[in-house]
This record gives sequence, C-alpha cells and structure tokens, in this order.
Amino acid sequence: MEKVNRPKIVVEPPGPKARAFIERDHKVSSPSLTRTAPLVGVEEEGVWVKDIDGNIFLDFGSGIAVTNVGHKHPRVVQAIKEQSDKLIFVNSCDFYTVPQVELMERLCELTPGDFPKRVFMCNSGTEAVEAALKISQWHTRNFYVIGFIGGFHGRTMGSLQLTTTSVAARRHFKGMMQGVFHVPYAYCYRCPFKLEYPSCGLWCVGYIEDILLKKVIPPDDLACLVVEPIQGAGGYIVPPDEYLPALAKLCRDNNIIFVADEVQTGFCRTGRWFACEHWNVEPDIITLSKAIAAGLPCGATVCRAELMDWEQGAHENTLGGNPVVCKAALAVLDIMEQEKLDKNAERVGGYLIRRFEELAEKHEIIGDVRGKGMMIGIEFVKNRKTKEPATDLRNAVLTESFKRGLILLGAGQCALRLAPPLVLTQEQADVGLEIFEEALKKVEKEHM
Ligand SMILES: Cc1ncc(COP(=O)(O)O)c(C=O)c1O
Repeated sequence: MEKVNRPKIVVEPPGPKARAFIERDHKVSSPSLTRTAPLVGVEEEGVWVKDIDGNIFLDFGSGIAVTNVGHKHPRVVQAIKEQSDKLIFVNSCDFYTVPQVELMERLCELTPGDFPKRVFMCNSGTEAVEAALKISQWHTRNFYVIGFIGGFHGRTMGSLQLTTTSVAARRHFKGMMQGVFHVPYAYCYRCPFKLEYPSCGLWCVGYIEDILLKKVIPPDDLACLVVEPIQGAGGYIVPPDEYLPALAKLCRDNNIIFVADEVQTGFCRTGRWFACEHWNVEPDIITLSKAIAAGLPCGATVCRAELMDWEQGAHENTLGGNPVVCKAALAVLDIMEQEKLDKNAERVGGYLIRRFEELAEKHEIIGDVRGKGMMIGIEFVKNRKTKEPATDLRNAVLTESFKRGLILLGAGQCALRLAPPLVLTQEQADVGLEIFEEALKKVEKEHM
C-alpha cells in the first residue's frame, strides 16, 4: 500500500465501487449486523485502511480494539506464512501442537497473578466468556451469576444473558441462560443511583454487599461475578480507582469467583498489558480475545489452576488453539513486548485524552472525556447541565469524520470510542484530532 501521512480521499465515501459491493452484501448478509460506516476495506497497513475506491482512512477504531499491533504487521504476516507452510490444523481436543502449548505458557506468565494457571483456548470473546461461566458452575456446582448493567460479554446464549448494552441484542431470545443478577456499574457521569462520586461512598459496590447478597442471593449460591475492568461497548466507561479493588475484595470476602472480561481491555490497550493491572487486581479468571491474534479468530480463558478442575470431556471445541492462529498470537506478544506498545498506548493515549479535554472546553456538545491509554470515550450531550444524550450528534460527528478519512466507532447510547492501533504516533494523533475538530465544527454549525 502506498505510504501516506494523512488520509487520502479520492472520491467521497462510499464511492461507486463501495456502493456496488454494499448492495451485493445487503442481498446476502444477515441484516442483524450494525455496520458503522460504508467502508469496503481492501488493503491495510499500520494505522491506515484503504477502501475499494482507493480512499485511505486513518483508523481510530482498530476493528474494535483488535489490530493493536497495527494492521498487517509484517511479523504477524511472516508468522502466519511460516506456520501455514508447515501445519495448518491439528484438532486440539484429540492431539497436541507446539504453538498452542507455547501460547498458553506465555498467557499464564503475562496475565496478572503469580499463581499456577490453566488456559482454555477457543475462537472468540463470547466463547471465552462461556468457558468462564462453565468453569465457575462446574467448580462451585452453583448456577447464579452477578453481571453489570451496560456490560457486553458476547452474543451466545450464556454470555448474552450477561450482555445488557441494549435490548436489541436480547429481544426474543428466550433460551438465554437464566440466573444472572444484573447490578449497576460505576458509571459516574450518569450514576444509576443518582449519587455523586466520591460522596456516594461507592454505593454501587455497597448495594451488592448490603442488598443483593443479604436479601436476594446468598453468596454461597453464586457461581461467579463477571465484570469488564473498563466497560467497552457500554461506552468506554472508566470506573473510579477504588471500584475494581472493592469488587475483588467483595468476591474474596464472600468466596465468589471473580471473572474479569478483558476481551476488549487486554493486550496493552489501556497502557498496561491488562487493565486490571491499573488497580493491582488479580482475577481468578480472565477472558481474552480480540487483539490476541491481530484479527485471526482466537479466544482464551485463563484461570487459577485449582478452579479449572472439570473432568475430561466437560468442555472442548474443534478449532480453538489452531496452530496458525497461535503462531500469530505469539508474534503479537513479541511485538507488544519489543515495541513496548503498553508504553506507547499510555504516552500517545494520554496526549489524545488531554487534547480531547481541551476540545471539550471549546465544544459544548462534548459532555465527558474519559479513558486510559488508547481506550478513550467521548460522550455527546445536547446540554451540559441536563446531560441529555445526543445520539444524533454523535452519529453526525462519526459520519463527518468518516467522509474526511477518519474511522471512528460508536459505543453506548451517545459516546464515541477511540481505540487506534497502539502503534499510532503523536503526529498521526494530531492528524486525527484535526479531522475530528473539523467534523465537530461542521456538526455544531448544522445542528445547533
Ligand atoms: C468485553 C467483551 N467481551 C466479550 C465480547 C465478545 O467477543 P466476540 O465478539 O469475539 O464474541 C466482546 C466483544 O465486543 C467484548 O467487548
């Protein structure tokens, strides 16, 4: 792909070729897909994505926090080529492969907690969460689970019951796993209890302890508690610093398995290898996927060894731990380590957050800027005082940015989630900010 240092728009997207393919797609694809923007990608490199009409976009989404090492990193490509020349598949239910063992060992070392661990390999985030639920149920022989409002954990019938980002994902699916108690998350900008932090005394944790566990469900009937350290699809919501440690303590005190869903926050996204590290929390189970293999289907459930005590045949899958995928994942881990992507996420992400905060001072429609590393949420409001959600303005900024060559993604009711590839430089960040501000001004002019 040709080298660029800013987006190149040769025809307003979607151009004629993109429109033709989108028409073909719409005839055969499932209408359930959300589709953020009319992008038909054909080439990629680093932080850039080229569409079928020759437009080149700056990517501030990474396919929802997947291409953390940058699009088509040469070392990932090399790992895929070399492994597929040797061995593409061995069924890991029945046999063994070298890349899978190496990857599981690395994941045990890298994830928080200096204790023996075991890993279950699969193909996606939702499967990683399903495995966490099943491990917890098998180990405790309990059925009930605590989940969080606004949480996103997948779309299969177990993880879907934990997913409460919108009713659209849940409507009519009556066969969902039952037995999940949903509690409010620490969404301080719009506190579900209408309290203020810190005078609230973290009532969102107190509520679980004082109300749920005392009046609704005794802790010894629970299989686990599943939480995102920073809510992803819910709107890139960063809880206060005491929140995750308080949840971990609550689980420890009540003998509840603590599951951290790091599918979106993992692999250097937040400026640490795993978001739990910001708060020195060591979960019993961590679910992983997305960035783990730079876009190849891969998921992993990393678990305290003594909790993964299920019997042979209790849980398996056919394609999980595929050797090509595991080799790509091992390359991802090497790149992250050697290119110090956690540090770059913290440095350039911190710069982006400061610059977005400056924009928020000038632009009333930005109600809140929050984030850690390169996981940044920007929430749009009609009115700063009433905080009336401005979904239409959020969508308009997204569309205007896209037309100018900047890929953004939505999250929650009225937020944008910024998750650029972690190789983003400060100069590239400035280009994105410039386009974003241009789009913002256009939307304000037209809508206000
Ligand atoms: C935190 C979290 N968990 C689980 C999932 C589900 O992952 P997948 O779409 O790979 O099933 C997602 C997907 O966005 C996620 O963000």
